[in-house]
Amino acid sequence: MIIPYFGLKKMPFPKEIKTDHLLDTYDIREAFTRLSYIRQHRGIMLLTGEPGSGKTSILRKFVDSLNSQTHMHAYSPLATLSRSELYRQLNALLRLPSKMRKSELFEQIQKAILDYYDNQGKTPCIILDECHMMDHQTLQELILITNFQMDSKVPFILVLIGQPELREMLKRRLHEPLNQRITLRYHMAGLTSEEIPPFILHGMKLAGRSDPLFDEKAFETIHQLSHGLPRKIGSLCVGAMTVAMAKKMKTVDADCVVQASAGI
Ligand SMILES: Nc1ncnc2c1ncn2[C@@H]1O[C@H](COP(=O)(O)OP(=O)(O)O)[C@@H](O)[C@H]1O
Ligand SMILES: [Mg+2]
Repeated sequence: MIIPYFGLKKMPFPKEIKTDHLLDTYDIREAFTRLSYIRQHRGIMLLTGEPGSGKTSILRKFVDSLNSQTHMHAYSPLATLSRSELYRQLNALLRLPSKMRKSELFEQIQKAILDYYDNQGKTPCIILDECHMMDHQTLQELILITNFQMDSKVPFILVLIGQPELREMLKRRLHEPLNQRITLRYHMAGLTSEEIPPFILHGMKLAGRSDPLFDEKAFETIHQLSHGLPRKIGSLCVGAMTVAMAKKMKTVDADCVVQASAGI
């Protein structure tokens, strides 16, 4: 086990970390700045990035920053795939009674959003993750349900999250209306080479180890092989530590990283 071997308290780079433990990377700062703008001014935000780039993590941080007196948030980890399910999903996210007909659902959802905003003083904040899985018709439908008084009023926040394909999908002509209504967008590009050492040191520190473990070349190799994606960086580190332990090494070098990547 790498935990006792490297003097750790727990496994480094777990699947989910507390939002206040996220390292303040360029991506995190830029995405959060835009989300903070949306929190105040409402509208639609598009957040894209490769798998493991930190999209869900920044959204968790955003949700933590919402005040329950002023915002009502509803998060769906998997955006609905088909048009018929979209209204039912939004209805459930807003905790509304079920209705059979689509037209009834439509009316109920729009009324509820307006009621939160006008009468309860709360902005409904709907967050749909993995939106690249949605079909084109479902994406188009979003424009109908979020159209209030011919667009003169924006009583909601809608955050669409997805892999880079989502950006491409939205470039199509049929999505021009939705594309035009997107207030802000951000693409998580991954960590730069300068951000890799602090990211790894931070993760190791959270696991209980402050002494350096990875050498310079290991950092460089991790950057090349991970393309700066936080999830890949974490799994490469754990893999390389396992290789180093098997070789009875006390530090981790580039060879360990390369061997680990062959096995991941
Ligand atoms: N800034 C960060 N600091 C520390 N860990 C991070 C950071 N960004 C992402 N991670 C970690 O990387 C992994 C992937 O992040 P996640 O938000 O699930 O990516 P995505 O939703 O884009 O697939 C998670 O384990 C997360 O804890
Ligand atoms: Mg995710």
